[in-house]
This record gives sequence, structure tokens and C-alpha cells, in this order.
Amino acid sequence: MEKTLLIIKPDGIQKRLIGEILRRVEAAGLAIKAMRMLQLDRRTAGRFYAVHKEKPFYHSLVEYMTSGPVVVAALEGINAVSRFRALIGATDPDKAEEGTIRRLFADSIERNVVHGSDSTENGCIETSFFFGTADLEMVESTE
Ligand code: CDP
Ligand code: MG
Repeated sequence: MEKTLLIIKPDGIQKRLIGEILRRVEAAGLAIKAMRMLQLDRRTAGRFYAVHKEKPFYHSLVEYMTSGPVVVAALEGINAVSRFRALIGATDPDKAEEGTIRRLFADSIERNVVHGSDSTENGCIETSFFFGTADLEMVESTE
């Protein structure tokens, strides 16, 4: 079992794609373990994307990610990281495979609707960035 972080980015919310994206997650057999809507501030968005701090697109990325509310969700499943990356497609929607979320709905390499963790390790780090152990360990159902 792996965990991976989904973020529905501000353009995804503006385009009213929350239901569409979650439907695709569930249809792919990934479990939603925890979920919340929130407004990122510049400091939090900057910390989340710290790995990109030196990139030319960093400041624009932080602006974009703080431009409106986002939905964050911890997804779980066997090979959840690679399965969810396959569902969202390449960073640049023009290079993303047909039928992927970014290919279908993204406007540009920046405004690409969704985030998905890129490795098993980052899946753990990023789900823990937004959710506590109590949220992530929650059992599926009780009698
Ligand atoms: O999100 P993903 O892992 O596919 O791509 P990334 O290389 O980790 O970049 C993080 C985010 O920065 C992307 O999802 C885009 O929103 C943005 N980005 C950008 O604005 N311009 C680029 N050339 C590359 C990424
Ligand atoms: Mg990435």
C-alpha cells in the first residue's frame, strides 16, 4: 500500500472540476483516506514547493497556488503513486497522454489543474505535510 497526495489546484476549483476529478480517482480504485479544502498562504505554498525554489517558474507557481482555494486529499492504494501519476498525465498538458486529467482539462504547463506526488517517499512526506497521523491511519469502516 502506498499513499500519494492529490491537490486540486485553484484552476481546477474555478473550473468546477472537484467532482470530476474525485470521480476519476475513485473509478481508478484509489481510496480517499483524508480530504480538505483550504486556502494556501504564500509561506505554505513556498514550503510545499521548496524543491523548485531556484526554478524560473517558482514565484509564478506560488502566485498561482495561492490565487484561490485548493482541495488536498491523501489517496491510498497498491502502487498509488504511479497509478495516480498515470491518471493525471505529464506536467505539460500538450505532452500528456489522451484521456488524462491534465490533457483533458489543463490550460498550460503551469495551470495544470492537479498535483500528484512523484515518488513513494514524497507520497509519505506530502500527505504528512497536510494531514496528521490520526487522519491517515483512519480505518476504512466500522461495524
Ligand atoms: O507537478 P509535476 O510533478 O508534474 O511537475 P513539477 O516539475 O514538479 O512542477 C511543479 C509544478 O510547477 C507543475 O505542476 C506546474 O504547475 C509548475 N511548473 C511550471 O509552471 N512551469 C514549468 N516549466 C514546470 C512546472
Ligand atoms: Mg512534482
